[in-house]
Amino acid sequence: MAIIPLSEQEIQQLRAETKGTAERIHFNNAGSSLPPDVVLDTVINYLTEEASYGGYETEYKYNAELNNTYALIARLINADVNEIAVVENASTAWWLAFNGIDFKAGDEIITSEMEYVTNLISFTHTKKTYGVKIKVIPNDEHGNLSLSELEAAISPQTKLIAITHIASSTGGVMPVVKIGKIARKHGVLYLVDACQSAGQVPVDVREIDCDMLSVTGRKYLRAPRGTGFLYVRKTIQGKLKLQFMDGFSTEWVTETDYKIRDDARRFELYEKNRALILGLGKAVEYALNIGVDRIWQRVQYLANILRNQLRSIEGISVHDFGDEQCGIVTFTVNEIDSAVIKAKLAEKQINVSVGLAKSTLFFMNKNHLSSVVRASVHYYNTEKEIIIMCDVLRSL
Ligand SMILES: Cc1ncc(COP(=O)(O)O)c(C=O)c1O
Repeated sequence: MAIIPLSEQEIQQLRAETKGTAERIHFNNAGSSLPPDVVLDTVINYLTEEASYGGYETEYKYNAELNNTYALIARLINADVNEIAVVENASTAWWLAFNGIDFKAGDEIITSEMEYVTNLISFTHTKKTYGVKIKVIPNDEHGNLSLSELEAAISPQTKLIAITHIASSTGGVMPVVKIGKIARKHGVLYLVDACQSAGQVPVDVREIDCDMLSVTGRKYLRAPRGTGFLYVRKTIQGKLKLQFMDGFSTEWVTETDYKIRDDARRFELYEKNRALILGLGKAVEYALNIGVDRIWQRVQYLANILRNQLRSIEGISVHDFGDEQCGIVTFTVNEIDSAVIKAKLAEKQINVSVGLAKSTLFFMNKNHLSSVVRASVHYYNTEKEIIIMCDVLRSL
């Protein structure tokens, strides 16, 4: 079915519902998006009620809405509600999944050169601790992951394929559905880091066929900072070791024995920031109401305009590769440090960020990049904002 593009009127409405868009040009959505007002109001109201009526009393009142956050997340990624754990960021979610795996000496992990820093550090730690082998599949000269190389790298020792769907500091999108088919064919566990993709790209865990998937709230989902979630396929949940336990994730069977919860909330603890969970739910609902396929269409449209504009400016090199590219646009400016570009744009109320080599180490080292300017667009950005930023860059 054809996707109906966001109309000019809708974009103006969505901007009117986002206070921050009136004050500055925000192209740091890959860092943290501007939340819609409804998300902000939800969090503030909940905290106000907690302060007035008591934390437990407020939780009791909002119990149904708090549970609804799980249902909304499940809808967003086409999972079952019992496959979702809400945590405070993507790193925690990923850590709980990865460290739940029972690695032994000789096991292999397959990943790509686009993998995120935290994940690479965990691989290296596992290598040092258990003697696990890490195989990094490089992209080809066009920036696409070679699926045949990935499949050829699988051996009887391969325990896990771990892939970052969208890297932190370059615009390429990994073919997670095709990788999922390979993982399934060979019966290998499959972990996807969807930190930058959820809320930007339609993410469907059944289609991707992954066993575990980690997400943050604050980026393309437009949720408050300090939110995230983990998906774990129902049949895998019992196979992962828990990293911590309390009286919420487990319950007493007898005085000397306990049993672990029968859903993904076994990966959570009891105490959490309920105001933020409610805010996360509102943000997910907001994205669902717009339609993630429409968001993705608009983000790609704006990112294309931005890349073309940047390429037309002398001295600017764009560093996004691959057949499919997303809202993260990375570039460098001849002779000018990325941090200086960021500061110059900030003087004009334009937010961008600097992507450092360490965030996507293999990719950046291979392309001899120590840092890039990262301008990441969301659906609420406009063509006019892109022109304003490019004019500033031209003047530099
Ligand atoms: C691809 C990717 N994965 C994981 C993370 C970590 O997310 P969080 O800061 O929510 O733990 C980031 C953060 O920038 C990221 O870009």
